[in-house]
Amino acid sequence: MGAKVIGIGTSLPEKVLTNDDLAAMMDTSDEWIRERTGIRERRIGLPTSTMAIESGRAAMEMAGLGPDDIDLFILATTTPDQRVPGTAAVTHAELGLGCGAFDLNAACAGFTYGFVTANAMIDAPSGPQRVLLIGADALSPLTDWSDRGTAILFADGGGAVVLERTDHPTLLGWDLGADGNHRRLLMGDHDSFITMEGRDVFKVAVRAVSESVLTALDRAGVSPEEVDVLLPHQANIRIIEAICKRSGIDFAKSHNVIDHTGNNCAATIPLSMAKAHADGALEPGAIVVMTGFGAGMTWASTVVRW
Ligand code: UT7
Repeated sequence: MGAKVIGIGTSLPEKVLTNDDLAAMMDTSDEWIRERTGIRERRIGLPTSTMAIESGRAAMEMAGLGPDDIDLFILATTTPDQRVPGTAAVTHAELGLGCGAFDLNAACAGFTYGFVTANAMIDAPSGPQRVLLIGADALSPLTDWSDRGTAILFADGGGAVVLERTDHPTLLGWDLGADGNHRRLLMGDHDSFITMEGRDVFKVAVRAVSESVLTALDRAGVSPEEVDVLLPHQANIRIIEAICKRSGIDFAKSHNVIDHTGNNCAATIPLSMAKAHADGALEPGAIVVMTGFGAGMTWASTVVRW
C-alpha cells in the first residue's frame, strides 16, 4: 500500500516585509541578510488558521475533492491560534470536514512528521482512503522585532497536500529524530517571544539532517545520486547547501522558496513542493526527498517515489 499526493495548495499573507524594511528597524542590512541566509523578503500578517484554511481548500480543489471525501485531517503547527482547542478544530469547521482531526507539533519538522504519520495511517488496517495534511505557522506574532538574530528569518505561511491510498509503495524510506537536550536552543514560553541560539541550531541542524537524509536513503535502498527532487526545510540557504554537500545530493535538485517566503516553519516544505510542482519536477516515478528540522530539536526525512 502507498499514498500519492493528488492535491497541493499554498497560502501566504499579502504583506511583504523586505530586508530594507528590517534594516530601518534594527542594526542589519539587505546585503548581510541575503548573503548569510538567502532571504530577500518574507510575508507576515495572517493567523495560522486562515493560512491553513486557504491552503487546505486549494489542495482539495486541485484534487477535485469535497469535504466528505477527506477521511482524516492532520494540521502540523507550532503556532496554534489559541491554547485550547487545537487549530485543527476551526480549520475542520471552515473546510466543512466530517473526519477525525488533530494538531501535530513537531515545529519545523512538523510537515514531514505529519507525512510519515499520514502514510502510516493510510497503510493501517481499515485506515483512511484520503488524508488532508496541512503545515501552517504564523511566527511573526512570536517574533521580537528588535532581535536581529530571529527577525531576519521568521515569517508566516501555509501549505497543504491531499494524500490518497494507492496499491503500490510510495514511501520508500523515512527517519524521524529528536533530541530534547537541545530544547533550549530554540524556544518560546507562553506569552513571550521566540529566542534562538542561531549558531548552535545551525550546527545541530546540518549534522542531524544530513545523517537523517542518509539514513532514510539507506532504508529506501536509494543512493544520493538517484535523488531527483529535494524539498528541504527553508531556514537558511547555507544550511541547505551544507546538507547537500554532506549527504551527496546535488544542490541543483533542491527547490527553494526562502528568498521570498523566509522561514515559515511547518509550511516551508509544502511551499517548496508547490514550486517543484509548478516547475514540472514532480513527474511520476521521480525520487523525492523531504527533510525538515526545528525546535525540540526535531528532524525528519522521507524518500518518496512520486
Ligand atoms: O527553522 C529552524 C531553525 N532556525 C535556523 O535554522 C537558524 C539557524 N541559524 C542561522 O541561520 C544563523 O545562525 C543566523 C542567520 C541566525 C546567524 O548567521 P551566522 O552566520 O550564524 O551569524 P553569527 O551569529 O555567527 O554572527 C556573525 C556576525 C557577528 O558579528 P562579529 O561578531 O563577527 O563582528 C554578528 O554580530 O554577524 C553579526 N550579525 C549580524 N549582522 C548584521 C548577526 N546577525 C546579524 C544581522 N545583521 N542580522
